[in-house]
Amino acid sequence: MNILLTGGVGYIGSHTAVVLAQAGHQIVLFDNLCNSLKETVSRLEKIIGSSIVFVEGDVRNTELLITVLQEYQIDSVIHFAGLKAVGESVANPVLYFSNNVQGTISLLQAMQATQVNSLVFSSSATVYGEPVYLPYDEEHPTNPINPYGDTKLQVEIMLRDLANSNPDWKIACLRYFNPVGAHESGLIGDDPSGTPGNLMPYLARVATGQLECLSVFGNDYETRDGTGERDYIHVMDLAEGHMAALSFLNAHAGFHVVNLGTGKSTSVLECVNEFEKASNKKIALRFAPRRDGDLPIYFAKADLAKHKLGWTADRSVSEMCSSAWKFQSSQSKQ
Ligand code: NAD
Ligand code: UFG
Repeated sequence: MNILLTGGVGYIGSHTAVVLAQAGHQIVLFDNLCNSLKETVSRLEKIIGSSIVFVEGDVRNTELLITVLQEYQIDSVIHFAGLKAVGESVANPVLYFSNNVQGTISLLQAMQATQVNSLVFSSSATVYGEPVYLPYDEEHPTNPINPYGDTKLQVEIMLRDLANSNPDWKIACLRYFNPVGAHESGLIGDDPSGTPGNLMPYLARVATGQLECLSVFGNDYETRDGTGERDYIHVMDLAEGHMAALSFLNAHAGFHVVNLGTGKSTSVLECVNEFEKASNKKIALRFAPRRDGDLPIYFAKADLAKHKLGWTADRSVSEMCSSAWKFQSSQSKQ
């Protein structure tokens, strides 16, 4: 298949690109590089062993998207492009609605104009909000607690309505839990600019010595050890989940929402412990107050992905940490 990956140079897009290219698909990466580096494209070429088509552009440029969809005879789109920093979305909601919602409208207009009707969308577990029960299954009420989550839910609603309007559409919304880790080559991974806001890249930089000490946000939650628990999923498992979703859509039209998680939760202290083993480094930490907006614990019910897509996330937290460490330690040598 010919597959367009919007935001394909970013963290999850680049790992998915590897999986798709290695399975023999023709991929086209479309990205405005607002949160990624062009060098990732050459690193991907090194992993895959062949050249990659990369188009620099913004998804809000509908005309450019139409040209790309036609020129490369695209069969399916995976829509990763978007902004994802929760705090920034609270400070600048218009930016988030413009990128994430307006960007998706532009993409859908381009797809309608070129009659491309197969789409996988990067949604997030953040659409669920405060748990009414756990694990979150796909029927759990949606009630996002920040503008970033609002944009993901708005897009899901738009996609549902679009699929209802025309039975030819094939749409999967994948609700990711906490993607971490890196490709086994150590060439690509999660490399946020500035101080990382997420646990795993922060831990990795403490292990290399770039950052002094991890602040553990809260140790008085009602969880196994008092620290927050999340459903961490290896980015390569997540990447494979996208390929499974595309195969599923080949045979099933309509609108589908599926969780991509492991079904298990891991605490912050358990992550620290696994990272110390993987890196053979002591991680300095201190207990800090709870972070605003954090939930104590959430994790996925992952059964639907297994039954519908024939996919499960199998890689362990230890593999997540060792691959993240391989990537981070090779980055800091450069
Ligand atoms: P990322 O920032 O690494 O990748 C997103 C890519 O999209 C970047 O390369 C960025 O340059 C590009 N981009 C952003 N706005 C664009 C625009 N208007 N036009 C063209 N390109 C644009 O993030 P990621 O972690 O790879 O996330 C990919 C998707 O998955 C996002 O939609 C994100 O909201 C979603 N998601 C991520 C997580 C996570 O924890 N990483 C969790 C749930 C959902
Ligand atoms: N944490 C720390 N110290 C840090 C960073 C994080 O203790 O320096 C803790 C958090 O309090 C939380 C856990 O580590 O308990 C995970 O935090 P992350 O920031 O890594 O991830 P979140 O669960 O807060 O959110 C992530 C993405 C969201 C996405 C969500 C989907 O950042 O965009 O997963 O489940 F919506």
